[in-house]
Amino acid sequence: MVIKEVNLETVCGVTSKLPENTLPEVAFAGKSNVGKSSLINALMNRKSLARTSAQPGKTQTINFYNINDAMYLVDLPGYGYAKVAESEKAKWGKMIENYLHTSKQLRRVFLLIDIRHDPSANDKLMYDWIIHQGFDPVIVATKLDKLKRSQVPKCIKAVKEGLKVKPGTVIVPFSAVTKQGREEIWQIMDEAVGY
Ligand code: GTP
Ligand code: MG
Repeated sequence: MVIKEVNLETVCGVTSKLPENTLPEVAFAGKSNVGKSSLINALMNRKSLARTSAQPGKTQTINFYNINDAMYLVDLPGYGYAKVAESEKAKWGKMIENYLHTSKQLRRVFLLIDIRHDPSANDKLMYDWIIHQGFDPVIVATKLDKLKRSQVPKCIKAVKEGLKVKPGTVIVPFSAVTKQGREEIWQIMDEAVGY
């Protein structure tokens, strides 16, 4: 898709009602600080429309970015941020759960995992939960630029094994710094929204 116009159209907090969109959506899930907002900026060719931060817990709402009035990129709040109170975590968890469960337009879910680290118990829970909701997530292994090229195959294998991914699961190594992987993710999104 050639991006002509992007616009943060809807921001949902824990108490907001989710929008009843009619355009197809793709969503980005992953633990706090894994690079969801950075990936969304890279996909939109915008430096900082999606707010990013070195401090985890930046995105605390579900943000719907309208692309060309043709589809939405959905930035989900990160899970697993230790400094957030349990009650807050539970609220966000419910919010993500509710979105994945009720969206009628959600076509594809991307689950982001830091390529340098073995998936956490929360990552595995999220993966299983996405599958349970009937989606086959695409795994995006983020922060590729932080690895030496020789380390990549071993780390990809660790991500696959840590999540116990279903055979045939697509894993895309990605870097928001070099933009490697961007085209492949757009191809998957175009296909998902029928573009
Ligand atoms: P929350 O909103 O807290 O859930 O985090 P997030 O998943 O949206 O992460 P965000 O995009 O804000 O990125 C977190 C930090 O990682 C920021 O300091 C980014 O600059 C950095 N980062 C994200 N992607 C990459 C990448 O591909 N390479 C490198 N080197 N740093 C990255
Ligand atoms: Mg974010």
